[in-house]
Amino acid sequence: MSVPVVTIDGPSGSGKGTISLTIAQKLGWHFLDSGALYRLLALSLLNKNLSFDDESVMADMARGLDIHFSAETGGEVEIYLENKQVTNEIRTEKCGNAASKVAAVPAVREALLERQRGFRQPPGLVADGRDMGTVVFPDAPLKIFLTASAEERAKRRYNQLKQKGIDANLAALQDEIAERDKRDAGRAVSPLKAAEDAVIMDSTHMGIDEVVAQVMALCQDSILKK
Ligand code: DC
Repeated sequence: MSVPVVTIDGPSGSGKGTISLTIAQKLGWHFLDSGALYRLLALSLLNKNLSFDDESVMADMARGLDIHFSAETGGEVEIYLENKQVTNEIRTEKCGNAASKVAAVPAVREALLERQRGFRQPPGLVADGRDMGTVVFPDAPLKIFLTASAEERAKRRYNQLKQKGIDANLAALQDEIAERDKRDAGRAVSPLKAAEDAVIMDSTHMGIDEVVAQVMALCQDSILKK
C-alpha cells in the first residue's frame, strides 16, 4: 500500500499552514510546506541579486537549493537556507510576492516536483500548497480545498503581522492578496484550483479548532478506518 497523503490546498490566508501543521502533528505524520520551497527559491534569488527572467537559471537553482526543515515535533517548523535560519525572513510580503512570480515559471515547478514527492515517507504526509491535490499527489486519498473570503484573509494576515511587531496596512494587504490570488489562479501551469475529488471547506466564519476537527473527522473516515 502506498504511503497515505492528505493534501490541503487553498489561497494565502485561508489558514491552511496552521491547519496542515496541526493535522500532521496530531497524526504523527510528516509535513510539507510547499509554499516555503517557492519562498526559499525567491529568497535565494533575491540574496544573490539574480534576475527573475532566466528560467533555466531559476530551475537549476530550484534543483540545487540547499534547504532543511527542522523536525515537526510541536511548535513551528524552523526553515534553513544554506544552513542559515530564515523562518521569518521568507514570510515577508516581499518574499511572498517574489515567490508567486517564481511559482509561475513552468521549469521551476517541474524542478521542484520530485523534491516535493520525496517528502512522502511512512507513516504519512500532510502536504500544504496550491497544487498538492491536482498535480503533485493526484492519488492522495484525502484532498481538502480550504478557502476564505479575501477580506477575511487580509484581516488574518494583518493580525499575524501585527502580532510579530511588523507594521502593516490592511488596505494594501487586501490589494496584494487580490493581486496574488489572480496570479496564482490565472497562471498557465498548475493554477490554484480545487481537485475534482477535493472536499471544499470555507473557513471565513470558522475558527482553527473547528476546521482541524472537521479535517480530522475526514481523515478518520477516509484513511484511518481503512
Ligand atoms: O503558501 P505560500 O503563501 O507560502 O506560497 C508562496 C507562493 O508560492 C504563493 O504565491 C503561491 C506559490 N505556491 C505555488 O504556486 N504552489 C504551491 N504548491 C505552493 C505555493
